[in-house]
Amino acid sequence: MELGLDGKVAVVTGASKGIGLAITRSLAEEGAHVVAGALHGSEELDLLGERFSVQSVRVDLTDPAGPHRLVEDAVGRHGSLDILVNNVGAVRPRVDGFLSVTDEDWQGTLTINLLAAVRSLRAALPHLVRGAPSSVVTVSSVNAFLPDPVVIDYSAAKGALTNLCKALSKEYAARGVRINTVSPGPVQTDLWLGDDGVAATVARTGAGTPAEVAANAAAQSPTGRFTTPQEVADLVLFLASARAGNVTGSDFVVDGGLVSTV
Ligand SMILES: NC(=O)c1ccc[n+]([C@@H]2O[C@H](COP(=O)([O-])OP(=O)(O)OC[C@H]3O[C@@H](n4cnc5c(N)ncnc54)[C@H](OP(=O)(O)O)[C@@H]3O)[C@@H](O)[C@H]2O)c1
Repeated sequence: MELGLDGKVAVVTGASKGIGLAITRSLAEEGAHVVAGALHGSEELDLLGERFSVQSVRVDLTDPAGPHRLVEDAVGRHGSLDILVNNVGAVRPRVDGFLSVTDEDWQGTLTINLLAAVRSLRAALPHLVRGAPSSVVTVSSVNAFLPDPVVIDYSAAKGALTNLCKALSKEYAARGVRINTVSPGPVQTDLWLGDDGVAATVARTGAGTPAEVAANAAAQSPTGRFTTPQEVADLVLFLASARAGNVTGSDFVVDGGLVSTV
């Protein structure tokens, strides 16, 4: 399917690894110019920059000024903006229960999972309106509507994030900016499988090895496996493209059938 993304200008947040890296690579392979923001960056992202029009920008997206700086870098470099992918996010399993989650914990979770997107949208929307038709795709989570006490603050933040994007889609549809969310279940990234990921953290409570924790999570989905970052990226690219030209205010689940309600 021709996506027509050649020459488009995209900003991707949280782009150095995992889902954000897959989205960045896929956009670049389609000929888009990608300005890719992450805290530390990565060798993989730098390598993409050698082969494609990919600019790695080191930016702390929890800093109130960070998202604006990232968006302005893209517009300064390329003169316009067509696509914003709000991908950055993080989770800490609250294995000691709700009462152990401090105000600081809540603030940290809400900042990286919700406020970073609010600030990126605030910075990007004037440019996206100028460049319309244009598109925003936000990576939320099934936890937005599958609340889980082990990730209680993350679930609340993602619920707010999905809600925000739905509301904004109504305000901006007539101005030519489509705004959609994707909601993955468990995905094969460091967030779940890394040294400090969900599996390792839950395993430390005596729930088995990290591999066993991950296998149990995979078994919750009818397909019996985690989603790959590329499978999320493919969905994001379709939504970012004009092929999804009348799709806005929608949420797309990619979870191997995990969510069992209709
Ligand atoms: N993996 C899953 O199972 C899953 C499921 C549902 C939804 N999601 C969502 O998908 C999105 C991507 O998750 P992922 O699994 O790909 O995560 P990941 O592998 O942990 O990658 C997170 C990315 O965010 C960047 N990042 C973290 N803190 C940052 C900060 N303060 N400033 C700038 N960049 C920062 C990291 O950059 P550095 O490495 O350079 O620090 C990295 O590029 C998140 O919104 C997550 O909630 C993931």
